[in-house]
Amino acid sequence: MRVLIIGGSQFVGRAFAAEALAAGHRVTTFNRGVSGTDLPGVEAVRGDREVAGDLERLVSGRHWDAVVDTCGYVPRTVGASAAALSGHADTYLYVSSIACLPDWAQAVRPVDDDSPAHDCPPDAGPDHADGDYGVLKAGCERAVDRHFAGRTLHLRAGVILGPHDTMRMLDAWLWRMRVAEGEHRRVLAPGNPEVGMRLIDVRDVAVFGLDCLADGRTGAFIVNPPEKNTTFGELLTECVKATGSAAEPVWVDEGFIAEHGVSPWTDLPMWVPDTARDTLVWAAGAPRARAAGLACRSFSDTVRDAWEVVRDRPVPELPLAAGCGLSLSREKELLAAWDARGGAAAG
Ligand SMILES: NC(=O)c1ccc[n+]([C@@H]2O[C@H](COP(=O)([O-])OP(=O)(O)OC[C@H]3O[C@@H](n4cnc5c(N)ncnc54)[C@H](OP(=O)(O)O)[C@@H]3O)[C@@H](O)[C@H]2O)c1
Repeated sequence: MRVLIIGGSQFVGRAFAAEALAAGHRVTTFNRGVSGTDLPGVEAVRGDREVAGDLERLVSGRHWDAVVDTCGYVPRTVGASAAALSGHADTYLYVSSIACLPDWAQAVRPVDDDSPAHDCPPDAGPDHADGDYGVLKAGCERAVDRHFAGRTLHLRAGVILGPHDTMRMLDAWLWRMRVAEGEHRRVLAPGNPEVGMRLIDVRDVAVFGLDCLADGRTGAFIVNPPEKNTTFGELLTECVKATGSAAEPVWVDEGFIAEHGVSPWTDLPMWVPDTARDTLVWAAGAPRARAAGLACRSFSDTVRDAWEVVRDRPVPELPLAAGCGLSLSREKELLAAWDARGGAAAG
């Protein structure tokens, strides 16, 4: 296949480029050349998807079997790309998100492949619905449908991890384990280690998407591991194993976490209180994707390969970024408060 990747130099787009090249496809990438490096072997076209002239230059004299849009967040922008590409590509794969399903985003009930998406117009701008990520992703799907009716593939991905991740939630835990020495050897581990999760490897998303394109599939697919593929306890254990850390996880119950104003997901990446687990992303299977051949590698491989990418980088200051982990000093205070209570939540 001839494949155009909008993006292509970072995380999800990079994985699509790598897997497409490995499968023998011809790959064009389209990005501004500011935030990543294109893989050797691709035809790299420089340009900004928000600039009409750049899109015109991209499509001039070119035709692809498929577009893979990995960096669409605003319906109006995605619609402009789809309009420009409609006579120049056969199929449009849009990397959407499970967050486009309101029942998921609002934690109302488990979602499935037939859950309705948010109601967002296809020409919405970035401020629509206060810029809500999931609402806008639903609008982006509609913007693509408008120009590629019956020729669209929407991948509604859950939480994606793996090598070259830019969200850095897994990196936050890997680095935390890496620095677990001396006074920081004890690591605050939240809630119940047995809570099951579904975390999908970026390479499995890419292989699945490319296989769907090759098979001529269209429609919307939740892209999540069909079964829960790890637990929070295993996540931390895998990070300890990958980094060769001497970390000692201290399991702190969720009542204590809530009382001390520690924020799920941001202070403790990928962690949500157990009470919400059945209504959040961990509950959503992917029967349609499984039937279409989605295969997921072991979670252990995902953690190991993600670590290989960052292991030789200098240890960053923790937390990695706003919204990605606790500072070491705050964590130490929390563990001292936990110890003072005798290692148990208030009754
Ligand atoms: N991470 C998750 O858990 C998760 C879950 C579900 C869905 N998703 C979806 O996965 C997708 C991919 O995310 P990501 O983190 O890999 O990529 P990203 O950060 O959204 O995109 C980065 C890529 O897009 C290019 N790009 C950005 N702005 C551009 C522009 N105006 N014109 C042309 N190219 C542009 C970047 O290159 P330049 O900056 O050099 O232009 C880079 O190649 C997103 O659509 C996200 O909604 C992610």
